[in-house]
Amino acid sequence: MEILRHVIVLVHLVGFAVLFGGWVVEALGKRRITRVMHWGLAIAAVAGLALAAPWGFEGSLNYAKIGTKLVILLIIGALLGIGAGRQRKQGSVPPAVFWLIGVLTLANAAIAVLWR
Ligand code: HEM
Repeated sequence: MEILRHVIVLVHLVGFAVLFGGWVVEALGKRRITRVMHWGLAIAAVAGLALAAPWGFEGSLNYAKIGTKLVILLIIGALLGIGAGRQRKQGSVPPAVFWLIGVLTLANAAIAVLWR
């Protein structure tokens, strides 16, 4: 079971890599919202929720930290939705929305690593 949890951590990291990598590509390019970002968020969310369940051997889970990450993830999801909608209707994403997606994604990774 412990190896399974480690595999889910890996999947969680893949989700982060896909979301943040997709965003960096666009930050250096046309600054659009792409399907890759939506997929990355979905992968990180599903794996993160699985990791947030009490598995019994990971020590005590920090639920303040997990809750903070969940709220930030929901905000990123809302921004992806708002940005994709604006992109469809007006042809571009508001800069504040685009940059916040990257900043909040990085903030969630920083919280994961630095909040002990
Ligand atoms: C964009 C959103 C997210 C990003 C970028 C992110 C990033 C990360 C990273 C980089 C780690 C590895 C940290 C380490 O091993 O030291 C991690 C671990 C973890 N994440 Fe997330 N995360 C996100 C969303 C979530 C959500 C929504 C939850 C739960 C509701 C969650 C729960 C966890 C848990 C429980 C771990 C610890 C795994 C372990 O080492 O036992 N994450 N996250």
